[in-house]
Amino acid sequence: QTIAAIVPAAGVGSRMQHNAPKQYIQLAGKTILEHTLAKLSQLSQLRTIVVALSDSDPYFDELPTLDKRIVRASGGKERADSVLNSLLFLAPNPPAWVLVHDAARPLVNISDIERLIDECIRADEGGILASKVKDTIKRGHTHALQTVPRDDLWQALTPQFFKYDELKNALQGALASGATITDEASAIEWAGKPVKLVAGRSDNIKITTPEDLDLAGFLLHKQQN
Ligand code: C5P
Repeated sequence: QTIAAIVPAAGVGSRMQHNAPKQYIQLAGKTILEHTLAKLSQLSQLRTIVVALSDSDPYFDELPTLDKRIVRASGGKERADSVLNSLLFLAPNPPAWVLVHDAARPLVNISDIERLIDECIRADEGGILASKVKDTIKRGHTHALQTVPRDDLWQALTPQFFKYDELKNALQGALASGATITDEASAIEWAGKPVKLVAGRSDNIKITTPEDLDLAGFLLHKQQN
């Protein structure tokens, strides 16, 4: 079964208070994007690795090329548009499956990705890495109104792994309908298709705010040594 990876990396990272997009911040000797691509390039089953970037991104071409499978595509306004543009970029020779992974998650564990791919292909349905919510969750604005039962709550991580056609159709439909789509699974749910939850390590954090950087730097150093 052919598999292509898509790495949405066209965000501006406004919550990071940094001038370049957050994936170009250096951590443990490399940019966040290089760490992420180095992880994906360990997966020999990927036919190609499409990185969705803003057209005005001047940094990507300066990165050392780690892998011949890495190609650049144009991102879009929102993350879902970036993923859809990458799917359309693959349309002339589409893979059976796509593995979508945030540029901002360099800590992902390779065995978790392999398990996601194996379990989904075996079950013949798409799925995502996710981790059970550990904290007590409150609903409210200025005051807690309610404690939400957490026994069936999961935190959605990436990669997210779906069949090419199913994801393309779901994203096109969901975007056209104006639904709120913050990950690939939300488009698949919108389309009424199953999303398998595959438990992954909770240290696969998405680097979003400045306080995430120290933790990610520490964990990357630990993984390298
Ligand atoms: O902003 P957030 O942290 O949710 O972004 C998740 C990922 O989606 C990041 O890797 C970011 O670069 C990417 N993204 C994108 N296109 C956008 C917005 C975000 O590829 N328009």
